[in-house]
Amino acid sequence: MSNIQSVLHETRVFTPSDEFVKQANVSGMSAYQALVDASQKDYEGYWAKLARETLQWKKPFTKVLDESNAPFYKWFEDGELNVSYNCLDTHLTTQPEKTAIIFEADDGSVTRINYRDLHARVCQFANGLKSRGIKKGDRVVIYLPMSIEAVVAMQACARIGAIHSVVFGGFSSKSLHERITDAQACAVITSDGQFRGGKAMPLKPAVDEALGMGGCEGVHSVIVYQRTNSEVTWGGNNIWWHDLVTGQGTTCEPEWVSAEHPLFILYTSGSTGKPKGVQHSTGGYLLGAMLSMKWVFDYKDSDVFWCTADVGWITGHSYVTYGPLAMGATEVIFEGVPTYPDAGRFWKMIQDHKVTTFYTAPTAIRSLIKLGGDLPRKYDLSSLRLLGSVGEPINPEAWMWYYTEVGQSRCPIVDTWWQTETGSHMIAPLPGAMPIKPGTCTLPLPGIQATIVNENGDEVFDQHGGFLVIKRPFPSQIRTIWGDPERYKKGYFPHEMRGYYLAGDSAHRDEDGYFWIMGRIDDVLNVSGHRLGTMEIESALVANPLVAEAAIVGKPHEIKGEAVVAFVVLKGARPADAAAAKKLAEDLRNWVGHEIGPIAKPDEIRFGENLPKTRSGKIMRRLLRAIAKGEEITQDVSTLENPAILEQLKEVVR
Ligand code: WT7
Repeated sequence: MSNIQSVLHETRVFTPSDEFVKQANVSGMSAYQALVDASQKDYEGYWAKLARETLQWKKPFTKVLDESNAPFYKWFEDGELNVSYNCLDTHLTTQPEKTAIIFEADDGSVTRINYRDLHARVCQFANGLKSRGIKKGDRVVIYLPMSIEAVVAMQACARIGAIHSVVFGGFSSKSLHERITDAQACAVITSDGQFRGGKAMPLKPAVDEALGMGGCEGVHSVIVYQRTNSEVTWGGNNIWWHDLVTGQGTTCEPEWVSAEHPLFILYTSGSTGKPKGVQHSTGGYLLGAMLSMKWVFDYKDSDVFWCTADVGWITGHSYVTYGPLAMGATEVIFEGVPTYPDAGRFWKMIQDHKVTTFYTAPTAIRSLIKLGGDLPRKYDLSSLRLLGSVGEPINPEAWMWYYTEVGQSRCPIVDTWWQTETGSHMIAPLPGAMPIKPGTCTLPLPGIQATIVNENGDEVFDQHGGFLVIKRPFPSQIRTIWGDPERYKKGYFPHEMRGYYLAGDSAHRDEDGYFWIMGRIDDVLNVSGHRLGTMEIESALVANPLVAEAAIVGKPHEIKGEAVVAFVVLKGARPADAAAAKKLAEDLRNWVGHEIGPIAKPDEIRFGENLPKTRSGKIMRRLLRAIAKGEEITQDVSTLENPAILEQLKEVVR
């Protein structure tokens, strides 16, 4: 593991103010420790108590954790509940008038919806879904821009027990097709288009294309929300959202489901070319979302909560659609982009909506520093009391800027480590308990037995670090990979790990036991906080008729964290001149954009007559990573058949 030794040594420590500690939901280190102790003393009893106190059950559970078919764990299985009931109905008598969502559109117009009306809209849409014959267990793909409707669609699925699978609007028709067919969806919910940065962009054409690719015969309904008023082609099974809900009642009895009923599938990248459908549960998942709202975001009724993530990612599921609403929060949802009309948009919105809790990604922070590092000072950010970061390690410089310029040295930053698979925060500060340091996600949440092990599964406590694992099953974890239980077992619970959940990250601990995440151990890149499988991009490139072989590696990037570098071998000769190379590189970038989505487009392409391989024919990825970084080559290259290709691969096409 010596190759992943960390060079960081951060000595700055920020202790929460007395004022913050006093009002915190978990106040002081001793309160944190008491929870940890309780979880260690009686693991199941601890989770059972939290599940009883936190969730509203239609039928109480009697069994807590079922490990009989490990690693297919079950939590609270004989209990019955409904997530949409927990998010909406529970607030109907206590705070029906409270604003649930403040929606700010791309053009700055604002729509507010209170809990009573949100409940009514979810029920109406749920009734609409039922009118199309959609029922418990059916899969529904949602391909929508950030909107109140996206939340309504997800909540409505949850209400009737249908399993949603949200596909990020930036994914291509091919990616959408892959997800629709893998999930065997019976319906797709989309919009005509979306507004971003002052422009209307089409969305529905991608759905039409995807459905035309074959294998989607099971899709009997395409529900279209009218957002941009752009022209759309209309298929026989298409129906406008507004027509679907017309005449539908504003109440809908929730479908009471087992705590283990799948709430959703969300696709994410892994080590192979095929994205995996991460399947989450109902009870355990919601418990994780709510506890982290309470503990990590120190949620208070007076908060205005804003998580900037798109609902197409897990962060948007847990901290836009489910967590905040289950807590009865007022939350902000934003349609547009952080740089339009200028790089002060986030700060203006914090000011206008008096946001108290702001949760975003390091890549956004870095780009906003670059585009307008002094802009936060132009706005009144005094409403803020807590900041959050997610998606990748936050570099100390960006952390310090976020802390001093946005949080005005007053707001703790919660750096939250978790994954699509974990459903909710795993390692993160409880801001009124632990001191924070720039660049570390600090300590595990109470009850989460995170640790670091070597390749034999032995725990390590030194600075060298190792593999990040979670030793005991926890309620919000992935239940399986949709349609591929073997991949779930092999990928997350490999034999050497003794039944621990293998996260796929490397990490080390400092002298305070704080966790420092160092990066992925598999063939997964983290580009702007998004997971991209190198194999996925390689397969996309090789699918191009001109490409014989391709290798993808990551290289550090100032804003995105990691950039995608493609090494490409063509079927024919290398491009004859710079102009031809440039043209082809552009075509290939667009090709990948079309195959997967714009986020996967290679930042750099290099053409070689071959790729460097070991004798056994394995691509020498470490060597390629060094070449991509422009480092001196220290690897043994004596086995290379044609050393001249190294020179070719150093040439970046511009
Ligand atoms: C991977 C999970 C969790 C929602 C967003 C991404 C990296 C995530 C952090 C953090 C360091 C982080 C890890 C992880 N990651 N948060 N605070 N510090 N690394 O979800 O797409 O499932 O990606 O993102 O590498 O494994 P995801």
